[in-house]
Amino acid sequence: MMISTLSVHKFYGESRKGFKDFKTTACAPSGRPHPKVEETLQLVPEPVLVRSCGCGFPFPVGIDGLKILDLGCGCGRDAYLACALVGPQGFVTGIDLLPEQVQVAEEHADSFCQRLRYPRSHLRFMVGSIEDLKSAKIEDGSQDILISNCVINLSFNKQKVFDEAYRVLTSGGEFHFSDMYIDRHLDSHVLDHQELWGEGLLGALTLSEFEDIVKKAGFSQIHRVHSNPIAIVDEHVKSLLGSARYQSVTHRVFKLPQSENVGMSGQIAAAYLGSISGQPEVYRLSQQHEFKTGLPTHVDSALEALLSSSWLAKHFHLRMATDF
Ligand SMILES: C[S@@+](CC[C@H](N)C(=O)[O-])C[C@H]1O[C@@H](n2cnc3c(N)ncnc32)[C@H](O)[C@@H]1O
Repeated sequence: MMISTLSVHKFYGESRKGFKDFKTTACAPSGRPHPKVEETLQLVPEPVLVRSCGCGFPFPVGIDGLKILDLGCGCGRDAYLACALVGPQGFVTGIDLLPEQVQVAEEHADSFCQRLRYPRSHLRFMVGSIEDLKSAKIEDGSQDILISNCVINLSFNKQKVFDEAYRVLTSGGEFHFSDMYIDRHLDSHVLDHQELWGEGLLGALTLSEFEDIVKKAGFSQIHRVHSNPIAIVDEHVKSLLGSARYQSVTHRVFKLPQSENVGMSGQIAAAYLGSISGQPEVYRLSQQHEFKTGLPTHVDSALEALLSSSWLAKHFHLRMATDF
């Protein structure tokens, strides 16, 4: 077994029960989620909530009726939240490497679905590896949205994770995820430290490594939704890591039809229709892009491709800028 897989088993299977057990602030809830997500948090059963150890809130809004897959769902908090957000017409699957985590997620799913009055079959959990979703029988193009929270840093083959994510997403689908990033490469003497692997500190990518992997998998432009510095709270861990700095970042990337990856004219304006529930006045796509309802905004060719051919297309009106 490789060191990262071994560390994940030891770390999440035996010793860690939730974010309070970590030696960094990575897995403490950072930032405020969207009010709709915040409201939905009240519905999640306590034993699931206290075991969550993600580093963000990786949820797009307006996902009613969609099919969601949570990569590395742990004890299930985000899958439960997604289940409430997609409504009774949506489906959520959570997948995690460790049976111990999946068991907790499964234990409370009956009562949660009853509480929401949703069919139980709309929330399922499975044991599996995010590098090999084929073995879990997740079909090509079968998912609308993928989410993931502080998991990719633990993967021993990150290219495979993004290749698999791309494969299972439907055309126009989105991968929305929070993860940890490091600002430099670490000295080789710390790289076999099992506990630091488990904390995600040794597997974290630099942002430029991350960009290369995502592009190689076929995804379009990368959009940053939220970022937060991570503090190392343990003095010993701090001394091992020297001056390395970490941050948690929530990103969104889209699988767009290849021919439309680049928009045609660069002369296009987009107006948000105000149609996403809970977002009547403004839609925030990322830290860089915000759309006020009804107000045409000039978009570059990459954004034009995204707004015309992703799952968000039905919420935007695109025209030649001169025609608005
Ligand atoms: C930091 S926890 C986050 C769990 C969950 N996403 C949350 O927010 O509470 C990391 C999770 O990733 C899972 N994991 C790590 N490597 C994995 C892999 N290769 N395939 C599937 N799950 C993995 C671990 O078992 C653990 O549950």
